[in-house]
Amino acid sequence: MKKIGILTSGGDAPGMNAAIRAVVRKSIYNGLEAYGIYQGYSGLINGNIQQLELGSVGDIIHRGGTMLRSARCDEFKTKEGQQKGIEQLKKFGIDALVVIGGDGSFMGAKALTEQGFPCIGVPATIDNDISGTQFTIGFDTALNTVLNAIDRIRDTASSHERTFIIEVMGRDAGDIALWAGLAGGAETILVPEEKYEMESIVERLRSGQKRGKKHSIIVVAEGVMSATDFAQELKKSIDIESRVSVLGHIQRGGTPTGFDRVLASRLGARAVELLLEGKGGRTVGIEKDHIVDNDILSVLGQPRKFSKDIYDLSQILSI
Ligand code: F6P
Repeated sequence: MKKIGILTSGGDAPGMNAAIRAVVRKSIYNGLEAYGIYQGYSGLINGNIQQLELGSVGDIIHRGGTMLRSARCDEFKTKEGQQKGIEQLKKFGIDALVVIGGDGSFMGAKALTEQGFPCIGVPATIDNDISGTQFTIGFDTALNTVLNAIDRIRDTASSHERTFIIEVMGRDAGDIALWAGLAGGAETILVPEEKYEMESIVERLRSGQKRGKKHSIIVVAEGVMSATDFAQELKKSIDIESRVSVLGHIQRGGTPTGFDRVLASRLGARAVELLLEGKGGRTVGIEKDHIVDNDILSVLGQPRKFSKDIYDLSQILSI
């Protein structure tokens, strides 16, 4: 193996740049050439590929987003699209690929591996919704961005004695809502993994009012429903003054935290090691501070475990 390709795909996540840097530098350290594939799988299909040197990845470890840019590419879901990608890889003499992204990106890596082209998946998504790893790159940064917002909203919520309904990202997974809700002291957290009962939410708000509580914070993961819809539903059951705040894509940007930079560096470097060991079709991850790797099929085949213990704790601590 002489040449490794790297691409980032799907929703960007803070720390992707640190992962790119690790893959490039670890490759060059081991005498390999590294090639950046720009704009994810659509860049692969179009041959938007350039060699990266040590200096190409300088001054990026602290930057959010991805220097390779990203895209969601429907064409790559087809056999024809994948074939075009493989032709480009052959044209550039690239022997193996590191794919940095979420489960959609891993589907592409799986398809390429099945067609005889070794790929390693590096989990990067703010949603923290990939199995085979306790944390994905970008989750910690997004968590802290959301927390920062909740803390600020709390100031105005308490000044005006209002209930705030804060919508956070997470289409299928509630980790951002759960962790930020717990750390931000939210009274109610709504996640796609757990059913909610409006009656008990209202009861919680009422008992808070009785204790003299003037404001409250409700965090809703977008996968449950929009904060606006929830506010309308809530209004039918209790007469409180509420406001809605949708945090949106602000959660995807910003300087990666130290945790995300270290995680990205470790996972990116391990991906190169696996390829050097002749392994493809695997994903890397972290479990109990150990870097692990798993068959990409098993990772895609099983939904990530929801932290019920953290959810239950959040319920107890917000009484
Ligand atoms: O997958 C990450 C994510 O940020 C989700 O939480 C969110 O639902 C989605 O991407 C938004 O995607 P887009 O940037 O295409 O609007």
